[in-house]
Amino acid sequence: MAFGKIPRFSPSFSWREAAISTKEVLLPDSSDEKVRRFEHRFAAYIGAKYAVMVPSARYGFYLLLKAMGVEEGDEVVIPALTYYAIPAMVPLTKAKVKLADIGLHSHVLDPDAFEAAITEKTKVVVPTHLFGTPCDMERINTIAKKHGVKVIEDCAQSTGGRFNGQRVGSFGDAAYYTFGLTKNITSLSGAMITTNDRAIADFVRADIQQGDYAPLKKSLKEAMTGVAMMVATHPKIYWATVHPMVVLGNKMGKDPIHERFGEAECRYDTLPTYYQTHGKARAIQAAVGLKQLDRIEDLNASRIVNGSYLDQHLQSVSNLGVPTYPEKSEPIYMSFVVHHRDRQKLAEALRARGVDTTTGYMNDMAHHDLFPEFAANCPNAQKANAELLHIPVHPNLSLKDRQHIAQSVIEACAELG
Ligand SMILES: Cc1ncc(COP(=O)(O)O)c(C=O)c1O
Repeated sequence: MAFGKIPRFSPSFSWREAAISTKEVLLPDSSDEKVRRFEHRFAAYIGAKYAVMVPSARYGFYLLLKAMGVEEGDEVVIPALTYYAIPAMVPLTKAKVKLADIGLHSHVLDPDAFEAAITEKTKVVVPTHLFGTPCDMERINTIAKKHGVKVIEDCAQSTGGRFNGQRVGSFGDAAYYTFGLTKNITSLSGAMITTNDRAIADFVRADIQQGDYAPLKKSLKEAMTGVAMMVATHPKIYWATVHPMVVLGNKMGKDPIHERFGEAECRYDTLPTYYQTHGKARAIQAAVGLKQLDRIEDLNASRIVNGSYLDQHLQSVSNLGVPTYPEKSEPIYMSFVVHHRDRQKLAEALRARGVDTTTGYMNDMAHHDLFPEFAANCPNAQKANAELLHIPVHPNLSLKDRQHIAQSVIEACAELG
């Protein structure tokens, strides 16, 4: 731990990806060959037959719903603790969202709650492998099959995670992933869908191909942001740049990450029209994505080392809720999420010890002001939403950092009683 401050987050974007981005800018490649290569390699990595690059996971999800014929009168089951952009896509198909509860500390869809949410109108379920934790895909698939429900896996936070030795994204009828700068791998921006169903892949590709490329300035802006994040979260720089802003924000009772993603633009009526005309991925995104695929196993392995250490050392801390994992699930620890009845105080006590935290950007969608129509009884999601705190688990932590984080949490919880 240099200079006594540990950032909550550190990007997978490195000098390697910066060099590739620069080369793609200086020697632009106008063919789609790299995009096809990235799709091909990604499908092989997941263990799916087809992969198609899409501009965002939310739009990929929307296209998958359309490909599966979801329409007015249908219901889509989604876990209540999730990123609001996902349930917000469902009304665009005129179908209804049906929220189901999560496991309190696994944070992923509770298979019993899924089964209880099924009606004769249920068309699709979205097991969301949140925080890098794979859902119990054995039970979810069994229940879905029994009731004729299609499965779309949300792998936005779990690319590379496994359940029972098999990669998430290869269990359902289709899956989506996202590669923004804050994810475990990045393609600057952009996302992917995978499926074994040729008709679904063709439907998604036809929609994406009809329009133009995503604006180049978006990729350039992302590449520059990637460099800025890499520099700003470097331990020798972080303490003097981002950390004071986090402290200031928190003193004002704000969490910058939560604020950024809590923006009010939750209605997406114009999103399909926009992406139908600007949805194609560029070579620069695929070039960065291919490099990240070379590194994904190492990046995830570092997360797993850090997460397993925290699992082991925080198990018996009193007054602290620690993560649990469905049996046979092999998490990649996108986040390490603990619960505390006074998370603000815990965050302050950790910050005083040089450990930055965040409340993240997930929401209890069963009680979200902007979506009163999603209201449901999901007590675990409600409680988790009020208590959860992300502590650092990113791949750039050293053994000393891990030890310091665990020790700080132990001391802080003892201090708070
Ligand atoms: C769990 C989850 N699902 C879906 C998404 C949406 O991804 P995108 O921003 O590419 O639409 C995110 C984004 O972070 C996410 O965390």
